[in-house]
Amino acid sequence: MPWTRRHLLTLEELSLAEIDQIHATAAAFKKILGRNVKKVPALRGKTIVNLFLEPSTRTRMAFDMAAKRLSADVISLDGASSSTTKGETLRDTAQNIQALNADLIVLRHAASGSPLYLSRILDIPVVNAGDGAHEHPTQGLLDTFTMREHLGDLRGRKVTILGDILFSRVARSNIHALTKMGAAVTLCGPSTLVPDWFTDLGVKVSHDLKSALADAEVVMLLRIQHERQSAGHFPSLGEYTSMFGLNKPRASWLHPKAIIMHPGPINRGVEIDSDLADGERSVILEQVTNGIAVRMAVLYLCFGGQPESVAVVD
Ligand code: CP
Repeated sequence: MPWTRRHLLTLEELSLAEIDQIHATAAAFKKILGRNVKKVPALRGKTIVNLFLEPSTRTRMAFDMAAKRLSADVISLDGASSSTTKGETLRDTAQNIQALNADLIVLRHAASGSPLYLSRILDIPVVNAGDGAHEHPTQGLLDTFTMREHLGDLRGRKVTILGDILFSRVARSNIHALTKMGAAVTLCGPSTLVPDWFTDLGVKVSHDLKSALADAEVVMLLRIQHERQSAGHFPSLGEYTSMFGLNKPRASWLHPKAIIMHPGPINRGVEIDSDLADGERSVILEQVTNGIAVRMAVLYLCFGGQPESVAVVD
């Protein structure tokens, strides 16, 4: 099946076959990243603009590196140094970037739906790097890519996502990808942050940490998204940690070969103790590394590349 999408906006809209295609393309690029010469000429002559109107470390740097590894020219613009601080709208900002002959925009924005909006008003591809509490599709892709590297087929595998689900775009993208891949997903946290209506997405909801962690082969921790919460959803961080923080005794409830994941940034000592974040079961930094190959795949495909042609890009 040929790849036909110009934009990457959500994982909700992707089929399992499309997720498989992105993962296969990322695996091919990961091999190239392991060579002495890591750069390929696939996007030579293209200009990619990373428009990050919310803070980022991992996603922005990984998109920068991915574009450079593909030989594209890349320009990054953040909110604080852009004319959005003078009142310029997202529409005007994006249309000016297009007028400057950019070939693709990667957008991070606090408003859910903003990448979809740009995809409708621009003539160039748009890639979502996180929109409000809606989706973070490349994070969901790199997380499931990392899970597949460790577990293989995810069908029937118990994956527990623990923390602030309600305000997490990472959770939503992972839920859409994992349910398509056949994983048995359990969401866990306080009922204020993990409401029962999430079961409509084909997952289990639990407020009991022990049963949620029991025999899970993957546990993904999420931080409390203070920047998107308008009211207190639990009494204090200390109480959250005492009820739902992952520590060594609680990690013993997991499957003996379980992997521990976190999209970052980590609030050490809140959602996870440092000895687990840095321990042998942690794949947190592997997730970061895989973010480059996955974003290379997304950029390559959105520019019209085909999964099977990666082998001939250099
Ligand atoms: N995981 C993630 O989106 O991290 P950043 O906010 O640092 O990009």
